[in-house]
Amino acid sequence: MELEDDWLIDDSADELSADAIEPWQVLIVDDEPDIHRVTRLALGNIDFLGRPLALLSAYSGREALATLAANDDIALVLLDVVMESEEAGLKVARAVREELQNHRVRIILRTGQPGVAPERQVIESYDINDYKAKTELTRDKLYTAVLGTLRSYRDIMLIEQQRQMLAANRRGLLKVIEASSSIFQQQSIRRFAQGVLEQLQALLFFEQEALYVVVKGGVAALEDQGATTVLYATGGFSALCDKPLSSDELARFRPSIDAAMLHGHSVFEDDYFVGFFRSHQGAANLLIIDGPVALSTADRDLVELFCRNVSIAFENLMLRAEVEDTQRDIIYRLSEVVENRSPDTGQHIRRMAEFGWVLARALGLPDEDAEIIRAASPLHDVGKVGIPDAVLHKPGPLDAAERSIMDTHAQLGYTMLKDAKARILKTAAVIAHQHHERWDGTGYPQKLAGTDIALAARIMAVADVYDALSHTRCYKPAWPREEVLDAIRLGRGSQFDPAVVDAFFASLPEIEAIRERWRDDTGEAA
Ligand code: C2E
Ligand code: SIN
Ligand code: SIN
Ligand code: FE
Repeated sequence: MELEDDWLIDDSADELSADAIEPWQVLIVDDEPDIHRVTRLALGNIDFLGRPLALLSAYSGREALATLAANDDIALVLLDVVMESEEAGLKVARAVREELQNHRVRIILRTGQPGVAPERQVIESYDINDYKAKTELTRDKLYTAVLGTLRSYRDIMLIEQQRQMLAANRRGLLKVIEASSSIFQQQSIRRFAQGVLEQLQALLFFEQEALYVVVKGGVAALEDQGATTVLYATGGFSALCDKPLSSDELARFRPSIDAAMLHGHSVFEDDYFVGFFRSHQGAANLLIIDGPVALSTADRDLVELFCRNVSIAFENLMLRAEVEDTQRDIIYRLSEVVENRSPDTGQHIRRMAEFGWVLARALGLPDEDAEIIRAASPLHDVGKVGIPDAVLHKPGPLDAAERSIMDTHAQLGYTMLKDAKARILKTAAVIAHQHHERWDGTGYPQKLAGTDIALAARIMAVADVYDALSHTRCYKPAWPREEVLDAIRLGRGSQFDPAVVDAFFASLPEIEAIRERWRDDTGEAA
């Protein structure tokens, strides 16, 4: 039996939830007012894919172009051919694609003469989706044509949206990942502080001078200048290295330092920035950038994330902890950023880490390899940051176009992580890439089979499906325990590596203990 047959389907949810109220904008272009009237009658009160239509009218090619130039969100043009000239409509189609460079809007040509089709070459070069004789446009046919065309418009927009999100997310997250891992290569505290400053400068493209200061104790400690130590400083501040913060500087930055230490977060001022993080031993770490730093909200989030990472790295450096422990913490934090977008997977990343460890141990891997898998597994779905919300959070089953967008998360995750140097991140890249491959070679994205799939990914494939089936997802309820176990058993040798399935059942008590220990806040298994 194929596991895919078991998808629980809820037909009522077959619509986009995120932007369900936004109407589709459809432009009717025709020089005959009757056509507008008839079209409005035919389409007026109909919902398409859960969204109503907003019908716009233009009565000439010129007017149509002006409307399209002023409105980027028109989904579909019902375009008459002969208006102020024999080819007025075709001119509109050409201008939309070539001059306005609008390749999204869908075009249905409507001709008055049945049987007179525009040349094929015209249809292809202007990406015209359909042409119909007006006499052919009965209410039903018009509805079908509009529905099909809006569906393809929606798919185009989803892909477009994904491309934009990816550009933004990848830039940000990759920088944080890279910056964090290069910091770990620093050995001494001094070099560490220098690394932090350099990475932050690269992250934000700023040129300003900066200071890295450690304060022992709370706000009151600032009364004693000796409580501060400048670990590293650039430019005009460099003379302060290894010394207390001078009274001039202290006085100047004091209000924001106080605020940062009192409230425990970074302070963004117009003409300087104070990054804050506290080590477990209680020392406050301040990163002061002197000069205006123009930060978008997204940049600020990155800086905050970076500062949190830095504080963990710093603590661990102080504690002489294993470098890879630190990376694991950072990976959790990065994964949290990802999982924040999918509220229904709450404790999912914790469980994935522990499942990975248990299964690796049960398969006889050495502790060290099991630790690497534990640390890397929470990033298995990092590529989901590139999946538009309308797909990721869709309450029901995905259609083919959405599914193909969803499937890109494996390749995306790999692309984000593949250039990282740290061993954990390299393993994470492989897991992200291969966790949806199947033992029988019918998975995605590469259709790898058998032991061509990395062991870490074969392990996570079982863990991922076990976890997904046991819990509620936005698109499916939790399955009862016995059905979940049946699915894993049935997948042995087809979906999953038989050895991993055997290891799974051999360690079932531990697996179920992990599931109990890190329960989702909502949506428990039955
Ligand atoms: P998969 O089938 O490759 O799906 C990968 C991800 O695509 C899922 O991760 C989920 O985020 C998304 N996804 C898949 N189908 C749908 C859908 O119908 N609607 C929506 N909105 N999203 C969907 P997730 O949830 O972590 O699942 C991981 C894996 O667990 C799945 O990989 C699949 O192998 C298995 N799985 C999950 N639910 C079911 C199920 O109901 N039946 C079966 N046979 N397998 C399931
Ligand atoms: C018209 O409908 O205005 C003339 C026929 C055509 O569009 O080709
Ligand atoms: C009409 O003109 O109202 C009928 C559609 C056509 O031009 O063929
Ligand atoms: Fe996945």
